[in-house]
Amino acid sequence: MKKYRKQPYDVAEVRRLIEPGPVVLVSSASEGKTNIMTLGWHMMIGFSPALLGCYIDQSNHSYRMVVDSRECVINIPTTDLLEQVIGIGNCSGADTDKFALFGLTAMPATEVGAPLIAECYASFECRLADAHPNPNQPLFVWEIVRAHVAASPRLPKTLHYRGDGEFMLSGREISTRERYPNQRR
Ligand SMILES: Cc1cc2nc3c(=O)[nH]c(=O)nc-3n(C[C@H](O)[C@H](O)[C@H](O)COP(=O)(O)O)c2cc1C
Repeated sequence: MKKYRKQPYDVAEVRRLIEPGPVVLVSSASEGKTNIMTLGWHMMIGFSPALLGCYIDQSNHSYRMVVDSRECVINIPTTDLLEQVIGIGNCSGADTDKFALFGLTAMPATEVGAPLIAECYASFECRLADAHPNPNQPLFVWEIVRAHVAASPRLPKTLHYRGDGEFMLSGREISTRERYPNQRR
């Protein structure tokens, strides 16, 4: 097995190596308006109820919208939406209708006021489960109350943010399922 010779590394850059799952688009609705933001910092923190933690910085227009409505939809885009993912993450819903500008389709959700994004292969309707958002720790814990996922492709190509404008695209799949048949992981 290969051993690595490691160098000191800036702890502020560690996030770039351990970035979580796919980049998501968070859609929200409040006071008759909709919005979308790009989000890379999230993690699953519960099976049932299905809980998802998200870092939504206070500087984002979406912050106010999700604090006010206590709801959102977490949408997972595929690699063909790269331009939209970057564009949506670099403008503000305070002065932009992002659905119109980026040619995306808002579909009504079942449980929440925020819209699903039709062009994303998966959309999870979320209600705020627990949050003590403050400017220093704007961590939102969402309960996923309903999920909509396209039947095909089963393993879509997703975008994973490495920070500093770099993305990794999901790649080869390896199944090790037979090694732990009784565990859910
Ligand atoms: C690839 C990418 C990942 C991002 N991840 C996050 C994130 O995890 N949390 C966050 O608060 N902002 C994140 N942003 C920044 C927001 O998407 C950006 O500030 C956006 O303009 C907010 O839109 P809004 O003001 O309409 O809410 C990310 C942006 C990009 C491009």
